[in-house]
Amino acid sequence: MDALTAAPRRLGALPHPPSWPLVGSLPYFDPPRVHLVLEEWARRYGTPYRVNLAKRWMLVIDDPAEIARILRARPGAFRRVRPVESIFRELGIAGLFSSEGADWERQRRLVMKAFDPAHLKRYFPGLVMVTRRLLARFQRAARSGEVLDLQLEFMRYTVDVTAGLAFGVDINTIEQGDNAIQRHLDKVFPSINRRMSAIFPWWRYVRLPGDVALEKDLAEVRRAIDGFIAAARARIAADPALALQPGNLIEALLVAREAPQSGFSDADVSGNVFTVLLAGEDTTANTLAWLTAFLADEKAAQAAAQAEADAVLGEHSVLDAFDRVDDLVYTEAATREAMRLKPVAPILSHESNEPVTVCGIALRARTPIATLMRPAGLDPERFPQPMSFRPERWLGDAGKSEAAAAAKRVLMPFGGGPRFCPGRYLAMLEIQMVTSMMMRNFIIERVGSEPVRERNALSMLPEGFRARLTPR
Ligand code: HEM
Repeated sequence: MDALTAAPRRLGALPHPPSWPLVGSLPYFDPPRVHLVLEEWARRYGTPYRVNLAKRWMLVIDDPAEIARILRARPGAFRRVRPVESIFRELGIAGLFSSEGADWERQRRLVMKAFDPAHLKRYFPGLVMVTRRLLARFQRAARSGEVLDLQLEFMRYTVDVTAGLAFGVDINTIEQGDNAIQRHLDKVFPSINRRMSAIFPWWRYVRLPGDVALEKDLAEVRRAIDGFIAAARARIAADPALALQPGNLIEALLVAREAPQSGFSDADVSGNVFTVLLAGEDTTANTLAWLTAFLADEKAAQAAAQAEADAVLGEHSVLDAFDRVDDLVYTEAATREAMRLKPVAPILSHESNEPVTVCGIALRARTPIATLMRPAGLDPERFPQPMSFRPERWLGDAGKSEAAAAAKRVLMPFGGGPRFCPGRYLAMLEIQMVTSMMMRNFIIERVGSEPVRERNALSMLPEGFRARLTPR
């Protein structure tokens, strides 16, 4: 029988890791390392394999063509796993990421528009200002020899940029350092991650100290968000033209809220403001931190990125011409390479809405499916010397070859299909701005010889990466 006529296999026929009565394989799910556990099982048992989640069996796959097919078949045949929707709603942060069906479609249009290239171009002077602030902060740190946790510094930058672009407010956490929203936002992601991997939803029955702390963090962020919403309302009241042509996401959400039968509620407005703050913060900051860690370790790559920044920025210490961003081709290749080796979203979790066949396995409706996003990027057939950080593989004739185009398609750091990341252009722009600024002005050196570890906190970050900057 060939592949086309072969009958689908049963999920129950697949290999699986050890599993225990009542709890299945969940005791192995250490939230900060869950992606490493699933990747290790893929190596040990082969893919596809299945995992006992106590109440249901989950399919785990790493085939990029099948992953792309699932991502494209949303919101019809597949959805994000159900706990995403319920956990986000309970926390009062339901928005585009966690919603499904018609709710999702309504929100998607608004969010996509707010992050389109036209909005990015209009906001560019704001981005230059925030990048200059980060430069000033780094210059002070370089003068005093301060050892930096760059991931934290980048989170302040990404929060400031998102708030400026999407909410029209200059919150300047870079200079305030201890600003409330920043401090509290950081704690929300790991808490969601813990709840998503929980064997039992304890928080619905008892409030442990971690839950009380989470409520406090959420309340602080919500207070800041209420302030952004009040300011946006006042802007619309003062300038009725904004009701016809909102200038940013928060104004667009408020205008939609007021439109008759729009289906938008106050909770949709604040939930999406929260969602965008969260989704734009760690993902971009963690990608920047991984990229910087590679550049710190690979001196030749750092020198190449410095030479490019010198050529593109010239006399300027920060790139201040929007139309020159595309000239940062080496930086872009280095970013792509960092995302290949360290995708900050290494697992996407979905479930089937109806009976489907995935990787030749027949699945019932409501079967959870974990897609491993990294293995295809480490395939030596597609990426020679797969474990090496080599931006050159994306450049010149090699980068333009058909093999490179095919290899590019298997990497999906921003997801794919109708739900692909709406912030990808913003994220790439932020990464280009920060990296070129750092390369133009500083030499980055890693501090300490401890290996940097991967820690999953919904988005995957380099734990233990510390660096010192020296002026060039
Ligand atoms: C390097 C940075 C980033 C990475 C790697 C990243 C990655 C992702 C991934 C993998 C998804 C899931 C896509 C899917 O299901 O197909 C996603 C969704 C999303 N991202 Fe990003 N993201 C980044 C930056 C941003 C930024 C800057 C924003 C906004 C300010 C943002 C907002 C969102 C939102 C709202 C969604 C949900 C989309 C939906 O469900 O329709 N992301 N992102």
